[in-house]
Amino acid sequence: MKIEINNVFKSFSEKSVLNGVSLTIPSKKSTVILGKSGCGKSVLLKIIYQLLLQDSGVIRYDSKEEVAINNFSMLFQYSALFDSLTIWENIAFQSINEKSDNIKNIKERVIMNMESLGLSSDNFYKYPSELSGGMKKRVALGRALFKNPSVIFLDEPTTGLDPINSALINDLIIKTIKEKEITAITITHDIKSAIKTGDIFYYLENGIVEVSGECNGIFKTQNEKLNYFLKGDN
Ligand SMILES: Nc1ncnc2c1ncn2[C@@H]1O[C@H](COP(=O)(O)OP(=O)(O)OP(=O)(O)O)[C@@H](O)[C@H]1O
Ligand SMILES: [Mg+2]
Repeated sequence: MKIEINNVFKSFSEKSVLNGVSLTIPSKKSTVILGKSGCGKSVLLKIIYQLLLQDSGVIRYDSKEEVAINNFSMLFQYSALFDSLTIWENIAFQSINEKSDNIKNIKERVIMNMESLGLSSDNFYKYPSELSGGMKKRVALGRALFKNPSVIFLDEPTTGLDPINSALINDLIIKTIKEKEITAITITHDIKSAIKTGDIFYYLENGIVEVSGECNGIFKTQNEKLNYFLKGDN
């Protein structure tokens, strides 16, 4: 799905956060949104996902302003797993709730989903508190992928992970979005991950898109603000 964001503004009381953001998220590619802490990345993501409403500006999903977001999935920053549910119930949460299939079929699909993310079936009946941070992220990714979304939003997918687990999660993200041809939108501080997993990037500053381009050329981009951001320890 192609998503076009056109001149979006958003303020909270007196504080303006987005000051006319325009950008295009191409279909079946991986788009990365970069920017300093507090610049409005999560607000923008929530507006695209329709969890928040913009003050003005238009968003078109495959050229239409109306969209059924049941094809959208989100990987939340802190995984947002349910402590009192087992791993398989966390992954299949929505399908169990909606009774979209019988339990036997759902469980079989969870096993395949876990296998594709390198999660052993020993974890099926465990609770999130029994897993490491990296494994929790994989479960959260499993949940986001379980309903075969056409669009996936990834909010800081590698935050809090060590370099080995970050690389693992990045590889899984690349593998799944390419294999399943999902449109992916990632927000991150992690430049290495952005370059590895992204096709194109947008850099936000002062509530607008300061510069954009292809991820593999990010270090060659001639833009003072972006270069300052890339050099800093953001
Ligand atoms: N619901 C809200 N009500 C009031 N202010 C908000 C709300 N949501 C976000 N903000 C403000 O909007 C600004 C941008 O927040 P946002 O969460 O989008 O930043 P971010 O770029 O995602 O930062 P980080 O990288 O730290 O996650 C912040 O100043 C924040 O305080
Ligand atoms: Mg954020």
